[in-house]
Amino acid sequence: MTHKILVLPGDGIGPEIVAEAIKVLNVFTAEGSLSVEMEYANIGGAGYDAEGSPYPASTQTLAKAADAILLGAVGGPQYDNLDRPLRPERGLLAIRSDLELFANLRPAILYEALASASTLKPEVVANLDLMIVRELTGGIYFGKPRGIDVMENGERKGYNTLVYSEPEIDRIARVAFETAMKRNKRLCSVDKANVLEVSELWREVVERVGKEYPAVELSHMYVDNAAMQLVRSPKQFDVMVTTNMFGDILSDAAAMLTGSIGMLPSASLNASACGLYEPIHGSAPDIAGQGAANPLATILSVAMLLRYSLNKGELAERIEVAVKKVLAEGIRTGDIYTEGCRKVGTAEMGDAVVAALQG
Ligand code: NAD
Ligand code: IPM
Ligand code: MN
Repeated sequence: MTHKILVLPGDGIGPEIVAEAIKVLNVFTAEGSLSVEMEYANIGGAGYDAEGSPYPASTQTLAKAADAILLGAVGGPQYDNLDRPLRPERGLLAIRSDLELFANLRPAILYEALASASTLKPEVVANLDLMIVRELTGGIYFGKPRGIDVMENGERKGYNTLVYSEPEIDRIARVAFETAMKRNKRLCSVDKANVLEVSELWREVVERVGKEYPAVELSHMYVDNAAMQLVRSPKQFDVMVTTNMFGDILSDAAAMLTGSIGMLPSASLNASACGLYEPIHGSAPDIAGQGAANPLATILSVAMLLRYSLNKGELAERIEVAVKKVLAEGIRTGDIYTEGCRKVGTAEMGDAVVAALQG
């Protein structure tokens, strides 16, 4: 069976890291363990530059026909003054919403060799294996009304709306419980129910869904405490489920537990098998074009793509084992470099993973 993969390199370091991920996919196609048809299209600033839109209609058509999508990153300072609907980030939000990719899985796993690359003490992060389930197509990112208005006195006000419907909470809760069932059966739902009505509803619906999963130990935590607990004692968590914006923030924090934001992959899934796979980090304009970015989050996103959309768990595992091997050999991009290791660039890191896969 030939799988259709749409590749959206995007902006900044996007094209650099995606090129390395494609090298890894090519290992499998060359050895005959995978058959894919790859198409490339524009998203983000690249979409705006080439086609006048951060999510061009041509990209949308290809996205709807794809079995899976691999995305680099979007955004950059040159686009920051565009009208909001034309900004790169809107392209990313549009494709997530358009394909109803409501469930965003962000695993934070500490590879043993990177224990000393984390800014936290090795014993705090050793063996960390945490899954953040982030709601991705609702909440304050999409809620209406939104805008900046001029008030009667001539001053302006800006506003966004944090809104969740019961079905939106129900479906992300189910993904979280199912995820917990396949892991250590502990789920922590993160909210701000001490202040927000929307969180009160969130908590109530999560509790209700939880009745269907008696084997899962459910707990609730306020988001401020959760941020603190993540850096105090992250191994207390197995699966965390939370809203769009809280998940965005907590997953960047969790990334640092693993050594670098350059290590965290993600899968954005809908009710069917099609998914979008991307590193959780951005376009890193400060290092773009230097061949210095860590491609491992993108390479590990390919592993998630193989596992979740293509049903090729064994190939996904081979990638994860190869990454482990490369790190154990002391090969490091700058973001995860520690003394005594061999510092390499983006392409060399990709080549090292390819070599480990073939070896
Ligand atoms: P960022 O994640 O791009 O960068 C934050 C810091 O982490 C930078 O110092 C960067 O150099 C470093 N970093 C990120 N990825 C790295 C990698 N693979 N290897 C080594 N170092 C890495 O976040 P930012 O600077 O806040 O945002 C930059 C742009 O990216 C903005 O336009 C933002 O909107 C966009 N962004 C896009 C996505 C996405 O496409 N999913 C995610 C976050 C931010
Ligand atoms: C992410 C990013 C995006 C988000 C932005 C670029 C829209 O930060 O994927 O984490 O906030 O979801
Ligand atoms: Mn983010």
